This record gives sequence, C-alpha cells and structure tokens, in this order.
Amino acid sequence: MGSQASERLWWRDAVIYQIYPRSFADGDGDGTGDLAGVRSRLDYLADLGVDAIWFTPWYLSPMADGGYDVADYRVIDPAFGTLAEAEELIAAALAVGIRTIVDIVPNHVSDQHQWFQAALAARPGSPERARFWFHPGRGPGGAEMPTRWASPFNGETWTRTKNPDGTPGEWYLHLFSSAQPDLNWDHPDVRREHEDVLRFWFDRGVAGVRIDSAALLVKDPALPEEPANPGPGEHPASDRDELHDIYRSWRTVADSYPSDVTSGERILVGEVWLPDVDRFVRYLRPDELHTAFNFDFLARPWDAAELRESIDATLASHAPVGAPATWVLSNHDVTRPVTRYGRADSGFSFEAKRMGTPTDLELGRRRARAAALLSAALPGSLYIYQGDELGLPEFEELDNTLRQDPMFLRSGGVDPGREGCRVPLPWSGDAPPFGFSPAGAAPTWLPQPPEWAELTVEKQLADPGSMLALYRALLRIRRAEPGLGDGPMIWFPAGDDVLAFRRGPRFACVVNLSDRPVPLPGHERVLLTSGPLAGADLPSDTAAWLHAAPQRSTQHDQ
Ligand code: GLC
Repeated sequence: MGSQASERLWWRDAVIYQIYPRSFADGDGDGTGDLAGVRSRLDYLADLGVDAIWFTPWYLSPMADGGYDVADYRVIDPAFGTLAEAEELIAAALAVGIRTIVDIVPNHVSDQHQWFQAALAARPGSPERARFWFHPGRGPGGAEMPTRWASPFNGETWTRTKNPDGTPGEWYLHLFSSAQPDLNWDHPDVRREHEDVLRFWFDRGVAGVRIDSAALLVKDPALPEEPANPGPGEHPASDRDELHDIYRSWRTVADSYPSDVTSGERILVGEVWLPDVDRFVRYLRPDELHTAFNFDFLARPWDAAELRESIDATLASHAPVGAPATWVLSNHDVTRPVTRYGRADSGFSFEAKRMGTPTDLELGRRRARAAALLSAALPGSLYIYQGDELGLPEFEELDNTLRQDPMFLRSGGVDPGREGCRVPLPWSGDAPPFGFSPAGAAPTWLPQPPEWAELTVEKQLADPGSMLALYRALLRIRRAEPGLGDGPMIWFPAGDDVLAFRRGPRFACVVNLSDRPVPLPGHERVLLTSGPLAGADLPSDTAAWLHAAPQRSTQHDQ
C-alpha cells in the first residue's frame, strides 16, 4: 500500500502484479502452472513488494485462447485447481498483504459454455439464440456473412452453423476466434448473469475485477458495416455509448460491498484500447470504472518527446474525471519490454508484429531498467507483468508447431502470436524446468530457453545488479517515499531528450533518453539508478531517483 492512499482507496496507487497462471509456477507437476504453485510462491510476491495480484482467467476453459474462452465462471479449470483452493489462495494472499483481482470476460464465452451449446441445439429465432448474435447470411442462400467486421485476431468474425439436417444454417458473431461467440448485451439474461458473477467473486473476497475487452460488449443491432473513419461512438462494435450504463450498474454492485479498513473498495479495471483519450476517460467517470489500462503509454517508442507527450495527455485527460492514471509496460498480449526497447522501432503495435525483427537485447535491457524507474515514479498505479521483474526477453525462437495462439493460427503464421511472452518462469537451477515444476514433472507446456539459466529468481536474488534486485529496491522506495504514488508531478528542465520531474517536496526522477551522458541535476542523495553513473553524469538510457537539493529544485520549478 502506497503511503499516500488510505486503505479504502488502496487502488489509487497500488502496485499490481499480473499472474498468467499457466506460466507462473506448477505445484502438481503436470507442466502447467496452477494455484498450488502460486500459493507456494506468495512469499516471493510479498518480498517483491506488490499490493495486489491480477490473475488472468482461471475458470473452466477449453483454452482456445489461453482461458479467455470461459466455459463456466464459477468453476476453476481443473488444470489450475479447485474453487476451494482459489478461496484459500485469496485468503492466504490477503494474510501477507496482497489483494486479488480476477479477470472477467464479458464480451464472449467459450463455444463450450452451456448457453452456446443450448443455442446451437435450438432453432433460429429461439430464446436460446437470442443471448448471442445469430443471424441469417446475406446473398443467395445466405452464403455471405452478415457483416465484414474486422477481428483483432485477423480472419473472419462470423461462422456459419449447420441445421440439424446438415444443411447450412445461421451465422454467429465472434469478434475474436470462432471458439469465442459474442454475447448479446441487449439481452437481460446476459446483464443479470454478469452481475451475479461479479457478486460470486466479490463474495469470495476478491478486491477487484479486470474487465476484458471492455469497450467491445455492445453492438449496433442494425449490423451496419464499419464506416471508413468512424466518429466518436459511431463504430458498430466498439466504444458504443450504451456501454456506460452497463458499467454504472457494475459500479453499483462493487459499491454495495463494505469498504472498511480491511477490505478497501472493490474495484473495476477496464481493458480499454481506444486511440481517443477523451473517449477513454469517459469510462473513468466517478460512477463507472475505477481505472483502465493506459495502453497509449505502453505503445510509445523509447523517445523522450513521445513519452512526455503521452504522460502529459494521460494526466490532463484523467484530471477532470478524478481517476488515477495507470502505468503499464507490458502484459500477456504484447512484446516483452527488454525485446521491444532493443529494436529500431521500439513502439508497440499489433499490426507491426513480425517474426525475426533484429533486436539488441543489451540495449533493450538497459532501457527496460530505466523504464521501470520511470513508470514507478509517475502518479497513479503501476502494473508489472510476471517475468518483467526478471527482465525476461520475448522467446521468439519458439518452434512454430508449438504455437497455439489464435493470433498466430488465424494469420496463417504471419503474426507470431503471443506465446513468446507467456513462457513458464525460471525460478532456480541450471536447466529447464528451472524450478517451475517439481522434480520428475511432465515437460512444461511451452519450453523454456536454456539460456534462461542466467535469469532465474535464484541467480538474480544473489546478484545486486540484477533486474529483480532493481525491482525490489524500487518498490521498497516507492512504498516509503511520501511523494510517490498518487499525487501531482512537476517537470523540470534537465537537457534535451531528458525526462525530469519532481514528486513531493524532495523526490526527483531523471531519465536520459539522449545518446550521450548528461549531468545529474543538483541533489542531496542518489536513491537508486537503473545502471552505473559515469562520475557525476547520468549515461544514455539510464534513470536515477534522487532526493533533490531544495534550493536547486525550487529554482527549477515550473
Ligand atoms: C483481451 C485479452 C487477450 C484475449 C482477448 C480476447 O485482449 O487480454 O488475451 O485474447 O481479450 O478475450
């Protein structure tokens, strides 16, 4: 818990660690991570210094999209454990000061979900089909899909069903893979069911929910084609104005739970990818979501002007709605920072993902260390994706035959997909599975690169210069330093391509994104640096946290 926020408002400056359960730690030896594995590593997370864990989906799922194809929200997938284990884990985490956030996937369900199975078995026009988007095709014999909407996963967004007699039937909508049919949010059952699911998990002590694809739920029922340049709210399947009512009701559910000192407020965190920041912050009005992921910052290249512009736009747009910003360097969908920042184009875009882009990992690592100091010093809450604290690179050499991600499969292998950032974590030892699984276990579900022997938790704990040592130090300072977390920041000049800002009366963060060393601004004490200083200078791609000298900092206030 950051020192600025009360327990009730814990989320305004929380450090939230994202666990991809399949790849965090394997307790039962089947090569897949599970809840027992997480339980056995809670001390690691407490020592790291995080306030909360966000679990990507742990529910019953055929795993057509890594669990984002949910067959039953009230059942833990047997590969991960049981509901009783989840309840115990939530309580055990809380006992070491860590809150739990679960992932809710309201846009779609698995094609194995009982609602969808019932819909397939029912006739066109039936109440079972009304919970989804079943529609006759266009053209002769209904052979053409109802719309040509694009999919974030490449490929088509409608699949044709078969009638009981084997003849071609209606089509159903799936913005993602065909194993993820979209729900119809105009249907009262869909709304009621999700509010029940929220209560189901809040009743089990979770502190919040992360809402998957939060801007996609509502569709224009007239099913028009996508306009070439849709204006605000004009896209038929994204950012529709009706969404806000849904989140207002969810907020009422969250607010109906007591927010006393031990539990704090139950929060709603949106996965909202929208280029228009003003549309984005509408989801963060006081009666809607508490926070949403700041993908603008995540996607920016390692460039002082770009990052500064993103930070300014983020803070300026959040201020009027009173919501804190979030700072996110990566997640289970995007290229690992160590790899991304080591490329000529260090920005992130799904469209630009290609196999075999030349990468300088040393450069990437230096920048990822500096980026860790930068993002942890900015106002608001901070997300850390598992393995980033170890500086894991993207595993690009993964054999294509092992790739299961629909992004890879549906692009015909053009897009590498997302497995490269989802590889099981290396904990200890010199050879795979690096302590991920117990001795004698089945092979890990994705192989680990042998060179990760140098990146294990065990090795990094013994090395004060490691990425893990840096993360532990920065989270310790972030917790203790009164200026950090929620609150204002003030830029001050420190040279071209240098980001420098003050937090509170004496804390300063300086990040040198130029290609030459710059003098460190006046200071009383260096608290932490992302790499060695060069005498009194801050080298290129290096960040420093300082206690500023009071007289100099006053002079530099803007
Ligand atoms: C979100 C998830 C991603 C998933 C998609 C469909 O973007 O983060 O992993 O594939 O939604 O549910």
